[in-house]
Amino acid sequence: MKLLAICGSPRKRNTCNALNLIRDAFPGIDFEILHLIDLDFKPCKGCYTCVLKGESNCPLKDERDMILEKMAEADGLILASPVYSHMVSAMIKNLFERLGYLAHRPLFFNKFAMSMVTCSGYGAEEALKYMDKMLSVFGFNLAPSLELQFRPGKMPEKNTLLNIEKSKRAVKILIEKIEKGKKNKPSLKMIIPYNIFKYVSELDKELMKADYDYYKDKGDYYYETNIPFYKKIIAKKLTNKIIRQFD
Ligand SMILES: Cc1cc2nc3c(=O)[nH]c(=O)nc-3n(C[C@H](O)[C@H](O)[C@H](O)COP(=O)(O)O)c2cc1C
Repeated sequence: MKLLAICGSPRKRNTCNALNLIRDAFPGIDFEILHLIDLDFKPCKGCYTCVLKGESNCPLKDERDMILEKMAEADGLILASPVYSHMVSAMIKNLFERLGYLAHRPLFFNKFAMSMVTCSGYGAEEALKYMDKMLSVFGFNLAPSLELQFRPGKMPEKNTLLNIEKSKRAVKILIEKIEKGKKNKPSLKMIIPYNIFKYVSELDKELMKADYDYYKDKGDYYYETNIPFYKKIIAKKLTNKIIRQFD
């Protein structure tokens, strides 16, 4: 089994140390930590080219594709951020922006992921909710998220031990999920965006070329699966309500 951790901290302190402890606690697992700060990973220019024309047309030439390859090679992803000003770090936000086209054309339906934050007070809930949201729109199957509290200055031993125990428990659940391989069933939260993106991709096939190519041969969902009849009907009704606004 291979786990990839992406660390979105601009320094190698609490978040990095927490990931090192996790790696050391699971010696039998092939565990790689990728620090965004060490990479050539430029800020998104907001040109929207990846969404419209396809990700291979991104004008930024850097290590984005290496990150994507490592995500594709791993069975599970731990996405780790410090909480800065009640949210994810700017580096994690930039990762989501640079991979923003995946919200239109998700890829990672066969992969599992866990969001993790380190913080010293408030804001973890919002940051984790946002990370889980982005990972799920990229297609990942989610394990419960992990919040670790770090006090400024020297941490009491008992707090460190508590963080280690919490981390081990959370990562064990992620590993068990990967071993079981049980994927999420298509939910309305996924079927409705699927329907909308597919519909929009057909409105202007040239403008939305990348989305059109992605959706044109797909059926009821991103991949072959049986969606219960009642779910399809509800999703269709709710989708129609939303797309009426496009007309
Ligand atoms: C600019 C900045 C803003 C922060 N904002 C918050 C916050 O809103 N909530 C919180 O709980 N901790 C906040 N913290 C504390 C960090 O989340 C905490 O120390 C974290 O473990 C730092 O991880 P790092 O060592 O990987 O940077 C902030 C720290 C910095 C530097």
